[in-house]
Amino acid sequence: MGLASQTWLEALVTALGITTAHGYANPEPCSGGCFAQDPALIQRASDGVYFRFNTDTYIDIYKSTGDLTGPWENVGNVLPNGSLIDIADGEGLWAPMVIEVDGTYILYYSVSSLGSQDSAIGYATSTTLEDGSWVDHGATGVASVSGSAYNAIDPTMILVDGTYYLSFGSYWDNIFLVAFDANAETVADLASAEQILYQPAGTHQVEASFPYYYDGFYWEFWSEGQANRYDTAMPAAGGEYKVRVCRSEAITGPYTDQNGTSCLEGGGNYVLESHDEVYGPGGQGIFDDPTYGLVLYYRYANTSVGYAVADYQWGWNVIDWVDGWPTV
Ligand SMILES: *[C@@H]1O[C@H](CO)[C@@H](O)[C@H](O)[C@H]1NC(C)=O
Ligand SMILES: *[C@@H]1O[C@H](CO)[C@@H](O)[C@H](O)[C@H]1NC(C)=O
Ligand SMILES: *[C@@H]1O[C@H](CO)[C@@H](O)[C@H](O)[C@H]1NC(C)=O
Repeated sequence: MGLASQTWLEALVTALGITTAHGYANPEPCSGGCFAQDPALIQRASDGVYFRFNTDTYIDIYKSTGDLTGPWENVGNVLPNGSLIDIADGEGLWAPMVIEVDGTYILYYSVSSLGSQDSAIGYATSTTLEDGSWVDHGATGVASVSGSAYNAIDPTMILVDGTYYLSFGSYWDNIFLVAFDANAETVADLASAEQILYQPAGTHQVEASFPYYYDGFYWEFWSEGQANRYDTAMPAAGGEYKVRVCRSEAITGPYTDQNGTSCLEGGGNYVLESHDEVYGPGGQGIFDDPTYGLVLYYRYANTSVGYAVADYQWGWNVIDWVDGWPTV
């Protein structure tokens, strides 16, 4: 919207950076290497340096010795030789997530190909997060084949009362939760995986779940809608990626939204959708930053820059809790 077409009040609200009930804040600025796709963010414990990992052929490593705004530098790849997991020709390595366990960083990734349910979740470890430091270990034991209830992609890990839980999945029957062994490296019993989020409508375009504990609740963020191909097959308005959230008093559910709608029945607050120059925000995570506090980070296409995957940008906003629910 041009300034000329805004009322003086809208202009004032914009100038003051106030977000309204119907407005979303613009992403904070980014300098240096700002490409992002399914970003995963972590700060190195020893010196506070930020590392950001992306879906890309071999999982990119970006680094910032500044803060979340950068300057970001692409320093290499986690798996320059691919994964030990061998599922299909042309398989992709997707959606990294990193946690730290007793001084070792564990990076989870998915191996799959578009539209296929032949997928698996693998992991690699490092003590520094740096390029050249990662050792691939291959399978965690979470995998799917045609006919499975879920698609074994988009891993995220949360520690709850001493037990690690993997939240994963997309499409098919959407998001599942399963306990891991105490080492956080291998699944305890895949058959015990339970569905926690489900969108019954359409083709069940739910993926990229991200669990986070805050203020007495387990929050499950996810991305819903068409993730990619905006440059070749743009969806109808509103059909693109967006970020939603539900919460539960237990990690295993039941999850509901602010209206009390079950998140096994399509419920979910809208946290971030396309707005202004931001298109298809998603692939999100939550990070507790020492400077900014709790932030929502994500990738988005800038409508003034381009809609191809290679154009996706790193975005983040400080979370504003309104009536106890996360907003940006
Ligand atoms: C990748 O393969 C090359 C050639 O075999 C080898 O020198 C290198 O150490 C491997 N890198 C990793 C991270 O495994
Ligand atoms: C909650 O209910 C209100 C009022 O009916 C509605 O406008 C809103 O879209 C609902 N929220 C969600 C996430 O469905
Ligand atoms: C989009 O890109 C334009 C041109 O580089 C830039 O001026 C603008 O700030 C960007 N907007 C967002 C939301 O990134």
